[in-house]
This record gives sequence, structure tokens and C-alpha cells, in this order.
Amino acid sequence: MLANEHGLAVLEDACQAHGAEYRGSRTGALGDAAAFSFYYSKNLGAYGEGGIAVTNSRDLASRLQLLRNHGSSTRYYHSILGMNSRLDEIQAAVLRIKLRRLEGWNEERRALAGEYNRRLAGLPGVVTPVEAPDARHVYHLYVIRVEERDELLDWLKDRGVHAGIHYPVPIHLQEACRGLGYEEGDFPVAEKAAKEILSLPIYPELTIDDVAYVCQTISDFFGDERTGRPQAAAASEGGMRK
Ligand SMILES: Cc1ncc(COP(=O)(O)O)c(C=O)c1O
Repeated sequence: MLANEHGLAVLEDACQAHGAEYRGSRTGALGDAAAFSFYYSKNLGAYGEGGIAVTNSRDLASRLQLLRNHGSSTRYYHSILGMNSRLDEIQAAVLRIKLRRLEGWNEERRALAGEYNRRLAGLPGVVTPVEAPDARHVYHLYVIRVEERDELLDWLKDRGVHAGIHYPVPIHLQEACRGLGYEEGDFPVAEKAAKEILSLPIYPELTIDDVAYVCQTISDFFGDERTGRPQAAAASEGGMRK
């Protein structure tokens, strides 16, 4: 593996991948250490903020334990500069119970994604996500690509569908990274993706009927586009659920 050849550590950002698999291994076990977010909307979410770092290395584990506790292993004695990143007990208790349902929730997400795939297949203008044959996707997000993304986003919003963009600005164009000296055009693939991606609603409680409605609304958008009718006129024709 590339990292072994060059003596590199592999850190996994598994924040959107609780329960996902790659070549038979679970995310979190693919590298030297991994981070999972327990932000409330994640596949496994706390009732507030939270997260976890996992590793099989004792050295790394001790280092992480120091870092999360202000660099202190003995109270009021600080061997390194750390931070306060302790998971509070209430969140841990909630997560411990919710963890038991993670597998079931992931299966429900996968079933909904399958339904989206089936219903959106062949719709011109829509690119659906691909699951690699050696991977198990857990669909924290179900992201399609559409060239008329902003128009479709508004169209959906007007018809009661809350879609999202994850994420609208690539890292190299974030103001915080301006000091790195990159500009528009430096990463054209990421920039194009940022303009086309659209996250459709997905969460275990969503129903197949909801998915059908979202897909029909998307199909209507393209139907109207093809007829060349202005969208406002099409929208006022009624029959649309708000
Ligand atoms: C891929 C990815 N990495 C990291 C994070 C950060 O997680 P947190 O907000 O818990 O710090 C997120 C959260 O949205 C994420 O989606």
C-alpha cells in the first residue's frame, strides 16, 4: 500500500460513514486511526454535539486521551497543550442506546437509496450515486448531480421538498483557505461538482411514498424544462403539493 511504502499514517474521516464497508472491512478499521462525528444528523447522532476517535494503536490512543483532556493525565498537571474534547456522559448514554439501532437504520437508508436509484434511473439530466462493488454505502447523504441544480433546488423547495447542498464551496475557495493562494479554476472537477450536487432527503423515517413524491417532482421539473415552459407558469397550474 502507498502509505506503507512511504511510511505514512492513514487517518480516516469516517464522519459520514458509520457502518460503511470497504473490501470487507468496516470504516474506522481501514487506517491507523479514524474519526466519527456524532452530530445529531449523522447516521449515529447524539442529542447534541459529540464524536469519537478510534485506533488500534496503544500509543495513539494514549496521545488522543491526553489531547482531549487539556493535555493532562494527572489532574491539574499538563504534559502537552491539549483541548477540551471530552464526550459528556449524557451524550454517551444516548449514543450507547442508539448504537443498537444503527444497523437497522443503515438498512433503511440503503432501501430508500435503492428506491431513489430505481425511480430516477434513466431520467435525462440526473446522475445518481454509484455504489462500488467492493463497498457498502450507508447513505448519510443521497447526492445526485444535476446541471440546473439551483433551479431544481428552488423547484423542490416550492413543492415542499427540503433538499440541500453538501457542500457548496470547495475547500480551496473557502475564505479561510485564501492564504493558500488557490483560485477559481485550480480544481475544476471539484468546482464543477460543487455547482451540480444536490442532496435529496434521506433518513430512516422517510417513507417510500415520500421518495416517490420527490422523484415525481424532479421528473416534473425536467418535463417542464423540456417543454420550454417558464417554471413559474408551470407551478401555478395547480395539483402540486406544497
Ligand atoms: C466528512 C466530515 N468530516 C468531519 C465532520 C466534522 O464533524 P463534527 O461537526 O462532529 O466536528 C463532518 C461533519 O459534518 C463531516 O461530514
